[in-house]
Amino acid sequence: MKNIVVLVSGGGTNLQALIDASERGEIENGRISCVVSSNPNAYAIERAKKHNIDYAVIRRKDYKSLDSYDEALTALLLEKKADLVVLAGFMTILGDKVIKQFENRMINIHPSLIPSFCGAGFYGLKVHEAALARGVKVTGATVHFVNEICDGGPIILQKAVEISDDDTAETLQRKVMEQAEWKILPKAVSLFCSEKISVQGGRTIIKD
Ligand code: GRF
Repeated sequence: MKNIVVLVSGGGTNLQALIDASERGEIENGRISCVVSSNPNAYAIERAKKHNIDYAVIRRKDYKSLDSYDEALTALLLEKKADLVVLAGFMTILGDKVIKQFENRMINIHPSLIPSFCGAGFYGLKVHEAALARGVKVTGATVHFVNEICDGGPIILQKAVEISDDDTAETLQRKVMEQAEWKILPKAVSLFCSEKISVQGGRTIIKD
C-alpha cells in the first residue's frame, strides 16, 4: 500500500473526490495517510477529520525564507512517509528541495487543458476567466507531475469540458470540477499507486 499525502489550502473538493474514490475501493494499492494544509482554517481539514485521516498544518508565514519553509515541508512529508504527494488546491509556492525529493512522485491538478491557461498567475477563477475571454469552446483539466516549471511537468491525464455561451467563470469552474477534476485526479492517483505510470523524455506512458 502506498501512502498518499494530499496537500490542500481551501475547500478540498478534490480531496473529497479522493476520499470518496478510496472508500469505493477505486484507489488500487494506495491509502490517504495524511492531509497537509497551508491554511489552519481550510475546510479540507474538516473533511480529513470526518474520515479519521491524519492531518498537519504548515504555514508559509511561520518561516522566514522559502528555503527554511522548503526544508520543513520536505521533512514533514518524509516523516509522514509519503510515497505520493498530491497537490489538490495547494496555494503555496514550493521550493526546489521538495520538488527534487519527490520528483515523479508529486502530482498536481490544474483546471485547464495544459498548455492553455496555465503557468504563473493562472489559478482559481482566473483560469476560467481567461478561457472565457479567449472564447475557447472547450476547456478541461489536467493532472501532471510537478517539476521546477510552474504547470510544466509531464502530463498524466486530461479531460475536456465543453463551454456554453452562457457560462460564467463560476459556472465553468464548477463544470470543470464535476466533469473533469473529480474524475481524473482519483484515476491518476490509482494509476500511480498501481505503478502504471512511467516517465520517458518528459512524457508519461500509461499502462492501463
Ligand atoms: C481546483 O480547481 C484545482 O484544480 C486547483 O485548485 C482548486 C482546488 O479546489 N488547483 P478544491 O480545494 O479541491 O475544492
